[in-house]
Amino acid sequence: MARITAGLTTSHIPAVGAAFDLGKTETDYWRPVFEGYDWTKQWIRQNLPDVVVLVYNDHASAFSLELIPTFAIGCADQFPPADEGYGPRPVPVVEGHADLAWHLAQELILDEFDITIINKMEVDHGLTVPMSLVFGKVDAWPVRVIPIPVNVVQYPPPTGNRCYLLGQAIRRAVEAFPEDLNVHVWGTGGMSHQLQGPRAGLINREFDMDFLDRLIHDPESLRSMPHLRYLREAGSEGIELVMWLIMRGAMGGAVKELRRFYHVPASNTALGHLVIEPAG
Ligand code: DHB
Ligand code: FE
Repeated sequence: MARITAGLTTSHIPAVGAAFDLGKTETDYWRPVFEGYDWTKQWIRQNLPDVVVLVYNDHASAFSLELIPTFAIGCADQFPPADEGYGPRPVPVVEGHADLAWHLAQELILDEFDITIINKMEVDHGLTVPMSLVFGKVDAWPVRVIPIPVNVVQYPPPTGNRCYLLGQAIRRAVEAFPEDLNVHVWGTGGMSHQLQGPRAGLINREFDMDFLDRLIHDPESLRSMPHLRYLREAGSEGIELVMWLIMRGAMGGAVKELRRFYHVPASNTALGHLVIEPAG
């Protein structure tokens, strides 16, 4: 049977991807950011999953305002990096896991989560920047990835509670897959940030810390947090944090915190990162 052995969250700031691609990881500004992932890089070498179910949001790269799935699942064999305006990032093509992805689509839909099936898609910084942070510079990614894009770009995004329930359904679906697979669930985006308007550059360390604590120890209390509270406290793009609740729902009950990293600023954003594993 397939099983979920760990969860990981990280911000997916595009400037981090640009620093990585342009060889700036050792500069005074960026070194502290990339060093924050050294522990994780080492850990994942010893705990390499077969598949990462990677929850992220597309930023009008694969989708546009013409088509806006709330929840979707990538069932293709491959997902090339998207051209976000400067050409595609020079990173490997993401290899999918079509068998598990189709199984998840079937289980989720029969479990009454009507997720959109995607057979062709390019993936943007929401997915590729976390891959670079965790796996570094590689010729081929060492894991298969099942992308789960979530709409947090066009109002209305899904509620935190719905995200948490989707995570729980993903856990049930993974555990119903007969093949022995080691699966991680990742959630990307966040933390507090606002990219435009009078509050551009907003960072709320207190909110971010409280969110990290509650995500680990009291996720139930986050399920009912309204969108307006994310917007008010974490800025307009802080709403990306609802995706972390999908990861948390997929972990089951109590979890153990293996790694926490928080750094301000990275570009104009607060960067947060967690590695957790189900406890018991
Ligand atoms: C930026 C974009 C993002 O999608 C994000 O999650 C954080 C920062 C940016 O453009 O700076
Ligand atoms: Fe984003």
